Amino acid sequence: MRIDILTIFPEIFNGPFDQSIIKRAKDKGLVEIYIHNIRDFSNDKHKRVDDYPYGGEPGMVMMIEPIANAIEWLKSQRSYDEIIFLTPDGETLTQPIANKLSLLNNMILLCGHYKGIDERVREIYITKEISIGDYVLSGGEIPAMVLVDAIVRLIPGVLGDEQSALTDSFQDGLLSHPVYTRPADFRGHKVPEILRSGNHKDIENWNIQKAIEKTKKRENKNS
Ligand code: ADE
Repeated sequence: MRIDILTIFPEIFNGPFDQSIIKRAKDKGLVEIYIHNIRDFSNDKHKRVDDYPYGGEPGMVMMIEPIANAIEWLKSQRSYDEIIFLTPDGETLTQPIANKLSLLNNMILLCGHYKGIDERVREIYITKEISIGDYVLSGGEIPAMVLVDAIVRLIPGVLGDEQSALTDSFQDGLLSHPVYTRPADFRGHKVPEILRSGNHKDIENWNIQKAIEKTKKRENKNS
């Protein structure tokens, strides 16, 4: 999979993509991630990427030209399955959406800023709009990182069998059951006896029961 990210803050991505599972996926050649600075695609002599909105409202709007130049340059080199804009008014990211996106070959992620981007970018280039939740962040960079993490861990070969993404919360509509490790007794807080019984059938049933209880509790909180 190849992911191209368009941003005016490329440095934000240093770090999160160089650690843990995403780093491993890159090292194994399972994903290539390229960060592009939208400013590099500005024809303006001051490298401007934003301007005042028509209509006189306060705030700045990201201009279409630099974004169009960047997207067209990328599209001239390969075809893209999706061009995704991270925005709070997009479709809310869920596990089924991440599952679907993990099957793609090439995608562009566009991170917005300021009051928004010129609407024509959305009309002309964007094929999908994704929100990571009903709250507003100062830009699309952190949402892009969230999306990349959710997708990359699903690419076959990224996680070992023992960490299979199929047992993740949400994959079967249930949250994960609680897990424990040593010590068996931490200051009187004990690991449930059944998990130490060695009876695999009972343990499996207990895990399912706990997952159901946790899911119901969460549903009640959300309603
Ligand atoms: N940009 C700003 N807030 C966002 C959100 N909640 N989801 C995706 N992109 C955003």
